[in-house]
Amino acid sequence: MYTEKVMDHFSNPRNVGEIENASGVGTVGNAKCGDIMRIYLDIDDNGIINDVKFKTFGCGAAVATSSMATELVKGKGIKEALQVTNKAVMDALDGLPPVKVHCSLLAEEAIHAALWDYATKNNIVIEGLEKPK
Ligand code: FES
Ligand code: FES
Repeated sequence: MYTEKVMDHFSNPRNVGEIENASGVGTVGNAKCGDIMRIYLDIDDNGIINDVKFKTFGCGAAVATSSMATELVKGKGIKEALQVTNKAVMDALDGLPPVKVHCSLLAEEAIHAALWDYATKNNIVIEGLEKPK
């Protein structure tokens, strides 16, 4: 049912934890199942995501997609991080079963919420970023 990459990121998730004094923190919940995810971003003066950590209280697919999403945004600029959509994360994991697609939305939403938090704290506008719900 799950691809090898999903199983790998589920059993050995990357970047689990938190960042003290993070540049941006995003917490989102999944309305469908009640699972929660929090992402911490450490963004330097050049707008590069130097570090990223996450905590997920959720299903295996949510853990695996968070883990992969953190790998995809680490070391990237803000613009590139915005391109890490749930589809990009699923592709990187070689797909998810259809009933688990909603789980991958958490990571995208949490990254966006963390970027929004960063933008708000620094009084900047990130083009293409919508206010989290
Ligand atoms: Fe969230 Fe399955 S419904 S753990
Ligand atoms: Fe809730 Fe996966 S079942 S995030």
